[in-house]
Amino acid sequence: PKLVLAYSGGLDTSVILKWLCEKGFDVIAFCANVGQFEEDFAAVKAKAVAVGASKCIVTDLRKEFVTDYVFEAVKCNAMYEGRYLLGTSIARPCIAKEMIRIATEEGATYIAHGATGKGNDQVRFEMCAQALSPTVQCVAPWRDAEFIESFKGRSDLLAYCNKHGIPVDAKPKANYSIDENLFHTSYESGNLEDAMSPPEESMFKMTVSPKSAPDASETVQIEFSKGIPVKITNTTDGTVKTDPLDIFLYCNMIAGKHGIGRIDIVENRFVGIKSRGVYETPGGTLLRTAHLDLEGICMDREVKRITETLSNEFARLCYNGFWFAPEMELIRHSITFSQRDVDGLVEIELYKGNATITGRKSPNALYNADLASMDIEGGGDAFDYNPADAQGFIRINAVRLKTYAALRAKDQK
Ligand code: ARG
Ligand code: SIN
Repeated sequence: PKLVLAYSGGLDTSVILKWLCEKGFDVIAFCANVGQFEEDFAAVKAKAVAVGASKCIVTDLRKEFVTDYVFEAVKCNAMYEGRYLLGTSIARPCIAKEMIRIATEEGATYIAHGATGKGNDQVRFEMCAQALSPTVQCVAPWRDAEFIESFKGRSDLLAYCNKHGIPVDAKPKANYSIDENLFHTSYESGNLEDAMSPPEESMFKMTVSPKSAPDASETVQIEFSKGIPVKITNTTDGTVKTDPLDIFLYCNMIAGKHGIGRIDIVENRFVGIKSRGVYETPGGTLLRTAHLDLEGICMDREVKRITETLSNEFARLCYNGFWFAPEMELIRHSITFSQRDVDGLVEIELYKGNATITGRKSPNALYNADLASMDIEGGGDAFDYNPADAQGFIRINAVRLKTYAALRAKDQK
């Protein structure tokens, strides 16, 4: 039978490719270009065919990834457990969608991936795949008893490559697992499994350390239309970008140059395991900071409060693999609606790991300098704001607090 394998060209998926061929599958290798740093896709393609794939399809998903996934996350300020910007999580539905498209086009009834049986990625790939094609069968060699028995460690994988003439990267593998796309690079396991062991500086690909960032700051202005970035201007050197992919890649470059967007966390995987991860998300960090600030000036307080809840829910669903779930559809539509007045510009100064907001403006600003002013009485007749009314506002809001305080006072007796 025909099978589409999510193939990276690395050791694991090369062994898996060969193993699936030996099992009798007609393997079509699929490699998603989601903007991996310095990936040689021609070499990946050649390797897949050399190992035994009947063909290898490389799809450039970068534009789609930015506009349909990354900018959706920016629109809702998505963040998992208050820290993780979902760089791996949000790429999975994009990759799975293309994988299912290829499977349908090729008449393949199986798909396979190299994710382990302990992680989030297996859940995301397979949940997304099943949502898009209810009949597709998923093969996960890292959950297959026979496969696991044959490959207990890296040396077994290398021996298998040797036996089957599968080329192996000359440079020794880094002692951690990397996942990368244009949104972020993640590092997990290996040396990082000791939660106290700090990451090596040489590991990072997208950002410099704030310690070695330039001594001179740079300022950018980011423009949004309906919550989506539409333009970035570097006011220090005059660079302007307006294409979505160009904007995002420029954000990565400029924020990375100034050491912005690194985190080191222990997070909760959906399968119940805690995992230590180090991430660099330069452009995403910059855009989130800017977008949040713009909402500050043009989004209603109560709409903000509700979208904060939706944002949390969006992050949890994305992390857990529910991108194509009905509740996610509801949330994404609600977020899009909440963004209809989120237009304007934010100015940010980049300096040694910090993205500091220095100003913002919006044609739809709800902010009224006169109304907020400490110097001006009232705020113009249109608003009918009378500071004297605040006394009653406070007194009535305090009623519950006084009642409660009286109850607590009884405890003292
Ligand atoms: N812990 C992150 C997440 O679940 C990153 C996963 C990295 N995946 C990988 N195949 N190395 O989204
Ligand atoms: C894996 O287990 O394959 C990578 C980590 C994860 O998916 O959480």
